Order: sequence, then C-alpha cells, then structure tokens
Amino acid sequence: MEQDAVSLMKEAAGKAVVDKMVKCGMKLGLGTGSTAIHAIRRVGELLEQKTLYDICVFATSFQTEMECEKLNIPFYSLNSKELSSGLDLTIDGADEVDPNNHLIKGGGGALLIEKLAAYASTDYAIIIDESKLTDQLGGGFPVPLEVIPAARVQVIRALEKLGASVTLREALRKAGPVITEHGNIILDFRFNFLIDPPLMEADLNQIPGVVENGFFTRNPPIVFIARSDGTIETREH
Ligand code: A5P
Repeated sequence: MEQDAVSLMKEAAGKAVVDKMVKCGMKLGLGTGSTAIHAIRRVGELLEQKTLYDICVFATSFQTEMECEKLNIPFYSLNSKELSSGLDLTIDGADEVDPNNHLIKGGGGALLIEKLAAYASTDYAIIIDESKLTDQLGGGFPVPLEVIPAARVQVIRALEKLGASVTLREALRKAGPVITEHGNIILDFRFNFLIDPPLMEADLNQIPGVVENGFFTRNPPIVFIARSDGTIETREH
C-alpha cells in the first residue's frame, strides 16, 4: 500500500480514539511513534479549541514531549503530584497485535516508559493500521529487549539458549548501537517456534541485566484498527 494511504489510515485512527475516549479532567498517557503522534495532534487541536480542558498529560518519550511542547500541551512526570495516583487512559501505537490484543511494542525504542504508562493506566487504547494484526506474536516483528550495556553478551547467550536469534539494534547516522533515553542498548530477537507471550513477558525480565521487554500482555487494550476501506474497527478482548 502507498505510504500516503497508510499515513491517512493512522491519522483517522488517531483522531477516532481521542474523540471517543478522551474526556475533560483526564490524566492521560500519550505514546510514541508515527501513529500515536496523530492522537497527540488531535489532543492539541481540541485543547486549542477549548472543547477539551483540565488534561494532565504524561509523555512516553522525548519525541512525544517535543510534540507536546510544540502544541502547548502541558505534561508532567509520573512522580508529580498531578499524576502520582496513576493515569485514567493511555493511548499508544503498537508494532504487532494478536487476537488476544497482546502486543509487541518498542520498534521506536521507547518500550520502557511506554510500559510504565500502559501499566499505570486504568484504560489502555492502541491505534494501528490493519497491517499490524498478526495471528501469533514474535513470528514477524522482532521482540525488543532493553538491556544494560554491561549485560549485552550474557543476555544474548541466555536468549540463544532459549532458541532465539538475536540482533543488536544499530543506530542510523551514528556509529554503534542505539542507546535508549535511559542509557541502555536494545536487542531484537525472534523465535522460530510458537511462544506464549504472557509467560515470555514475565520470564524475560528474570534474565539479569534485562530492564524491560517489548511484550505487553498484562493490560489488554481496546484496539482501534484503521482498515484500508476507510473504516475504523474497535476490538476489545
Ligand atoms: C515505540 O517504541 C513503539 O512502541 C511504537 O509505539 C510502535 O513501534 C509503533 O510505532 P509506529 O506507530 O510508528 O508504527
């Protein structure tokens, strides 16, 4: 499909989720990536029109903070008195979604704070175009793992023992690996056999040196799916 068409689908889904789920007075987590940015822009638009007010936002990445700054959306730390009681709703994109609405996230390297927001939220909404749907997580999109640099080789060995093939995520326009906003590296891995995502999500974090993994299974979201025929389907599990 043409890139422009995909971008229009993402925009439609971003607008739909905000119009349907965001209410005045909410504590709102805003995700990262080329789909979530459309939801952020819709929030900015509604705040400017003053149809939306009293929103306290938590931004899940540097990219999201910069977009909020540009649109005059005030954002706070999750440790602040405004947000320490948790979030009402988080809206984010995803890399893959299975029939249980379990996710793989982290293609943009922001999985650690995205997971913090997802699990600190009462409601969770994911916006995707239909190409992100899959029958089985981990078959297509590789699963990201945020790892402290000192643990690189040991974590690769542990993953290989589990039967995974592993790649260190390399930076573009910088020599060497991607360094996350928290000073860590990212390992992307794949299994060539069926895995159980909830079990994997719990087990991977037991490997010493792993900070977080890209399976999101513990707060199944409502998923807004933009279809190529222009419709938006919502799917709850
Ligand atoms: C960021 O780390 C990711 O989790 C994104 O939310 C995910 O990769 C989806 O990004 P796009 O909407 O850009 O595909």
